[in-house]
Amino acid sequence: MEIKITSLENIREAARQFVAAMEDNTVFAFYGKMGAGKTTFVKAVCEELGVTDVINSPTFAIVNEYRADESGELIYHFDFYRIKRLEEVYDMGYEDYFYSGALCFIEWPELIEDVLPEEAVRVTIEEQEDGSRLITL
Ligand SMILES: Nc1ncnc2c1ncn2[C@@H]1O[C@H](COP(=O)(O)OP(=O)(O)OP(=O)(O)O)[C@@H](O)[C@H]1O
Ligand SMILES: [Mg+2]
Repeated sequence: MEIKITSLENIREAARQFVAAMEDNTVFAFYGKMGAGKTTFVKAVCEELGVTDVINSPTFAIVNEYRADESGELIYHFDFYRIKRLEEVYDMGYEDYFYSGALCFIEWPELIEDVLPEEAVRVTIEEQEDGSRLITL
């Protein structure tokens, strides 16, 4: 399926479409170049899921944790960009997150491909020539 974000003004509508397509899946791997819009879209999806905490790009932490207000549901947002060795991923206890049943949104999954659950949903975000973003899942 494809979702188009024509501009930041309608990212919320794109996030709504994404949430509707999530079904029972919990682990989502977001592929896309630097600056493609992964963090921005994950943030919009989290807002759509009812997270009202200020959500920052997990620049310094590998994992940020959010809580959806109404459901109390936990959401984990990973950025593996700075991972240099898979051992760092083992050390952070990735299994406790990926197999917890909680939602996991992963940036730079390329760097942890070996431990990405088989059932993870692969999502790609691509910036188009006109600046819009195309999401494929
Ligand atoms: N759908 C969009 N439409 C227009 N601009 C966007 C969109 N998504 C993100 N941007 C802009 O692109 C820039 C990069 O976005 P973002 O940080 O989300 O990218 P990223 O894929 O997470 O990058 P990184 O790989 O560095 O983590 C930001 O300035 C953001 O405002
Ligand atoms: Mg990012």
